[in-house]
Amino acid sequence: MCGIVGYMGPKEAAPILIKGLHRLEYRGYDSAGIALINGNGKLSIYKTKGKVANLEKLLSDKDVSGCVGIAHTRWATHGEPNEANAHPHLSEHNNIALIHNGIIENYKALKEELVSKGYHFYSDTDTEVIVQLIQYIMDTHKISLTEAVPQALANVIGAYAIAIIDKDNPDVMIAARKGSPLIVGIGKDEFFIGSDATPIVEYTDKVVYLEEGQIALMERGKELQVTDLNKINISPVVKKLEISLEEIEKGGFADFMLKEIYEQPQTLRNSMSGRLHPDLGEVRLSGIIDNKEKFLNARRIIICACGTSWHAALIGKYMIEEIARIPVEVEYSSEFRYRNPVIYDDDIVIAISQSGETADTLAALKLARTKGAFLFGICNVVGSSIPRETDSGCYTHAGPEIGVASTKAFTAQVSTLALLALSLAKEKGTIDDATRLRLVAELQRIPDKIEKILKHDRNISMLAPIFTYARNFIYLGRGYNYPVALEGALKLKEISYIHAEGYPAAEMKHGPIALIDEELPVVVIATRKGKYDKIVSNIQEIKSRKGKIISIVTEGDVDVRKISDWSFEIPDTEECFVPLLSTIPLQLLAYHIAVVKGRNVDQPRNLAKSVTVE
Ligand code: G6P
Repeated sequence: MCGIVGYMGPKEAAPILIKGLHRLEYRGYDSAGIALINGNGKLSIYKTKGKVANLEKLLSDKDVSGCVGIAHTRWATHGEPNEANAHPHLSEHNNIALIHNGIIENYKALKEELVSKGYHFYSDTDTEVIVQLIQYIMDTHKISLTEAVPQALANVIGAYAIAIIDKDNPDVMIAARKGSPLIVGIGKDEFFIGSDATPIVEYTDKVVYLEEGQIALMERGKELQVTDLNKINISPVVKKLEISLEEIEKGGFADFMLKEIYEQPQTLRNSMSGRLHPDLGEVRLSGIIDNKEKFLNARRIIICACGTSWHAALIGKYMIEEIARIPVEVEYSSEFRYRNPVIYDDDIVIAISQSGETADTLAALKLARTKGAFLFGICNVVGSSIPRETDSGCYTHAGPEIGVASTKAFTAQVSTLALLALSLAKEKGTIDDATRLRLVAELQRIPDKIEKILKHDRNISMLAPIFTYARNFIYLGRGYNYPVALEGALKLKEISYIHAEGYPAAEMKHGPIALIDEELPVVVIATRKGKYDKIVSNIQEIKSRKGKIISIVTEGDVDVRKISDWSFEIPDTEECFVPLLSTIPLQLLAYHIAVVKGRNVDQPRNLAKSVTVE
């Protein structure tokens, strides 16, 4: 949540910062702001409500000169989205500017104290206390900004990623992190700050991922200095960025979401590459091989996740239990972390997270750590916090996902879970060789089958205008298609703002059936494998109540097509891999309905891609 970008170097900062904000906008987009130390030494701050484009408009006739600056795009937590609450925030003497991502939990107490000492506040944010506290410490102890920052942060409780500039020290930029991600990019005589790599990748591939409680001091003409909160020096580990500029641009597509839907054949090939060996009928996941004994002796697996990743977890449960015969529990991270769950030291806790930064999932892992469980991460963003918090894991390799509604990251999570299940099954001997060979060979064919489904995109886009009237949708599926129904409903509500519910098809009789009338569109995932006859009966029940049926069926299906109002075919596959295919038309359906309704599909209202606050 919230995008942070900073620059200090020989170039003009403003264009770099604005471009960076555009790249970061998917993290939050209710207001934006920029602070620059202009060529004449003045500190200029410009802020607006709304998107980065508004800020750009505001800047068109302003002095945006200067080679050092910070900028922010906000997802509001404390205080409504308006100009006053937008970042950067200024200190009492108008010389220090600060931007922040995270939540300061003790801000009220700090604010009261600072107000009593004569400091003035202009916003409702928690952020403003950090910059005022820094100023207060500088004023009372007569110390420099560099000395005051660790002292101030030692008094702050909560999560933060911050970037600071000071009018009186135009050759210095400071960044710090605790609980919220922050990256420093190192170029030739220049430094970049980013809450992720997207604003940096265009300029340098050398980055330092700040660790918990670290402060980065960037001084013109000097090497990057990193310390902890006790001012102990730490040698920064410079890593090579593994993403390319191409991956974070739209590449001719109307929206990132559409691009990411279309990327899925390739992202799945990437996620399986080097791991799936159809020639040997094997899967090799180093995270499993290196920790074989842990997995073989595991009492059970607990998967913690949020949002779309939670849906992938549910599919993972079905796969692992069916193929590898290990009991799996799937937990919402936010519930798990607060309800004193039973965790044994021979449990394996798997965290699934696209961003690798979701605050609740990180907290769930930390809780599991205290109980002695083995921690395994399935994440997409390389170098993010969860992979660093876990004992082992595997990346999903879907590449940067910019659209707020997750698509390619989801299918890459599911394919990674399929690899995990197959790898565990091999180690445990729970499936025979012939079955394993068949499954491995089929998994290899999935990307081609997705390509085939994508060719029918036009049919789905033509259907979309019919449903702009709808205020509700129901999505039904059984077995492996039940989590797909949940995910399909989530996609639709996220980006079109039409209320949608996913349900296990048989549960419909226990409530949602009351909603069915001639207006209600019901999406039924009725692929041939699994409980086909049962779902046909469920469709009949909807039909006889005049519901409008949109079905996802297996190629060549006759029965379901006959009783549906609209149908989309997907190729046949093994039952456990059906979600990788049945999800695709649902992503496209949600996308096209949202487009027809004129929604901003990449940046839907109120949402953020990376939820770094609980
Ligand atoms: C947000 C995003 C979702 C995502 C969820 C979990 O709500 O908008 O797309 O599924 O967070 O995020 P994670 O990064 O942990 O997968």
